[in-house]
Amino acid sequence: MVSTPLIQIGPPPAPEPDAAVIAEINRLRRERNAVILAHNYQIPAIQDLADFVGDSLALAREATRVQADVIVLCGVYFMAETAKLLNPERTVLIPDPQAGCSLADSITAEQLRAWKAEHPGAVVVSYVNTTAAVKAETDICCTSGNAEKVIRSIPEDQTILFCPDLFLGDYLKRVTGRRNMEIWAGECHVHAGIRPEEVRELITQLPDAELLIHPECGCTSALVWARGQGLLPPQTHLLSTDGMVRHARASTARTFVVATEMGLLHRLASENPTKRFLPADRAAVCRYMKLITLPKLRDCLRDLQPAVTIPEEIAVPARRAIERMLAVS
Ligand code: 13P
Ligand code: SF4
Repeated sequence: MVSTPLIQIGPPPAPEPDAAVIAEINRLRRERNAVILAHNYQIPAIQDLADFVGDSLALAREATRVQADVIVLCGVYFMAETAKLLNPERTVLIPDPQAGCSLADSITAEQLRAWKAEHPGAVVVSYVNTTAAVKAETDICCTSGNAEKVIRSIPEDQTILFCPDLFLGDYLKRVTGRRNMEIWAGECHVHAGIRPEEVRELITQLPDAELLIHPECGCTSALVWARGQGLLPPQTHLLSTDGMVRHARASTARTFVVATEMGLLHRLASENPTKRFLPADRAAVCRYMKLITLPKLRDCLRDLQPAVTIPEEIAVPARRAIERMLAVS
């Protein structure tokens, strides 16, 4: 007996879970009139669907141009706070408010107040990787993309208190030749873990490669010194994450060793498919950045929370410190 071929009726097979979540995110972002801003260290799936991907400076600048009703910041909490400071009237969401930052945690507003009291009249420059409460005690902020410009904008005779990153502060002191600059001893555990010995070993095996280093790295001071002594190839560059993206795009080199958080490799590789990007340290993964996932992004668009709120007495002076930075850079 010849059997009748089966005609399948009923619902089509369920789509891949990620595809279903992405479809929902796309529907909700339209419904909510939301814009999704993502940092360069976000997981590839988030970078790929974001409206804008960039470094801390680019995200802050983009936040000043937003027309949408809702901003979803896929990054760490201080980035969402910066977006809120620049958009007090809009709803600013972060898919996971536990996404902190070890560098931002290395100084509190109380510690900064005590430090200021020891140096009356000093100008406080804070890296954007700080809480809004620390920014409120700050004269001007900076990011890795504009820190040198910000330091040079301060009159020579004024003492600077720079916080919280030790490696970036030390680098800035060297490049600007500034003597009257005190540096807070904070660090990012991810970047501080990138060791100079390992980077040097890797780069000696790849003589044609360019070395791109984030100024937060633990390898920075030793490598900047080694470069000055002619112990490293001249093709060593200290750059913010967006600086690395621009540099890789313009360079004729084929291979790059990248000393920063692993997430940036996705953007570098997808924008430069014919070039090779090798991490200086595969363990350089920021667990806070990776707390942001597709399901959490979908849920926050659906529920319009967790939303960032900043008390007015903190928001007003903190906004001033960010706006001064944007005016300089
Ligand atoms: P940029 O992306 O501004 O270079 O900073 C790196 C960083 O660690 C942000 O948390
Ligand atoms: Fe903070 Fe370091 Fe993570 Fe950047 S990589 S968010 S500085 S902990």
